[in-house]
Amino acid sequence: MSEQTATTQHVGGLDVDALRGDFPILTRTVGEHPLVYLDSAATSHKPNRVIDAEADFYRRHNANAHRGIHMLGEEATQAYEGARATVARFLGAPEPETIVFTRGVTESMNLVAQGWGRRHLREGDEVLLTEMEHHSNIVPWQMTVAATGATLRYIPLTDDGLLDLSQLGSLLTERTKIFSVTGMSNALGTITPLRQLADAAHAVGALVAVDAAQLTPHSPIDVQALDVDLLGFTGHKMLGPTASGGLYGKVDVLESMDPLLGGGEMIHEVFPDHSTYKPAPYKFEGGTMPIAQQVGLAAAIDYLEALGMANVRAHEEEITRYALDRLLDAGATVFGPKDPSIRGGAVSFWFKDVHPHDLATILNEEGVAIRAGHHCAQLVMRRYGVSATARASFYVYNTTAEVDAMIDALNRAQAIFS
Ligand SMILES: Cc1ncc(COP(=O)(O)O)c(C=O)c1O
Repeated sequence: MSEQTATTQHVGGLDVDALRGDFPILTRTVGEHPLVYLDSAATSHKPNRVIDAEADFYRRHNANAHRGIHMLGEEATQAYEGARATVARFLGAPEPETIVFTRGVTESMNLVAQGWGRRHLREGDEVLLTEMEHHSNIVPWQMTVAATGATLRYIPLTDDGLLDLSQLGSLLTERTKIFSVTGMSNALGTITPLRQLADAAHAVGALVAVDAAQLTPHSPIDVQALDVDLLGFTGHKMLGPTASGGLYGKVDVLESMDPLLGGGEMIHEVFPDHSTYKPAPYKFEGGTMPIAQQVGLAAAIDYLEALGMANVRAHEEEITRYALDRLLDAGATVFGPKDPSIRGGAVSFWFKDVHPHDLATILNEEGVAIRAGHHCAQLVMRRYGVSATARASFYVYNTTAEVDAMIDALNRAQAIFS
């Protein structure tokens, strides 16, 4: 173990052993085993800095944002709007007002599908998705096309887990009004070529919306360089609190969208028969928002920026390469690309015909937390002829020694089932 620790301390430019000290939950044990948490694609753990920022908001500054002019009200508003500015900087957005706060990507994609889709789509129009989308970038569109008469189309996948772009010309046409695509698949790990896809969509006059739930935690991002029109992100997968996150949108696109929630603070004036709305982003933030959570998200971003997003990505690539090598050597069937430079650290696999749920159960007994199931990506499961996969997913605090622990536990699981 000491030898392993010595070789795994620095992974891809991160001093992993040192930063693990920032995450109190990583000292937990499972029975007599140290916790090996390999489920960060579902949700990440939170460093003290984030936990403290959220608690400090409640302890010292708690009030509703954009309401009271008393001291605490001003402080809460400043903290909330400061968080918006931090998110805008992190995403490379031109100004804080291009960031709408939401409770995460599910809410963001529903806002796009309903707020944009119901206003702009009609019969004969098409919405283009891909077969690697999470259900939160499929189901909202199914609801919208049912209401508008538009049609859904899907980009298929190659056997290697990439987008099959060979038929892009017939799928992306002047009938396509919006192309909504993941930046990184949570089921396959695949990173999609966003700039290339945005250019292709814009060439036919379509907008591009991105589900960046898995991309923003793991990779430097610049929404202006990518030239995407809308991009949903989530805080809880990038060291931030649950119910934090948002939607970036180009100013004219946000202005052309309707709010999802009518109510307090999103209005300009209310009359008996109609209301006028505030400009974006405020018209989309009806009711009391998750204020402390967005403040916690800003602390998470500060933490990630201090690590350096290039280092975060380098660590991800290195540990994913190590995990792929070890899994393939051990005889696992891995779904998704095998080249770590074009994928993230969510690694889906089958191990020697042991059902994923059995694997996850046995691994838990060894302290290793992986996920088993369809990962809210049933189109991916259907494409590859399985009902579920086991999935190990990595983040900044994971070491190659933890990958070794998983492989040992997998071998024990196989011994039990054979
Ligand atoms: C690719 C992808 N999209 C969307 C979501 C949903 O995100 P949220 O939990 O922020 O609603 C997830 C969460 O697992 C995801 O992995």
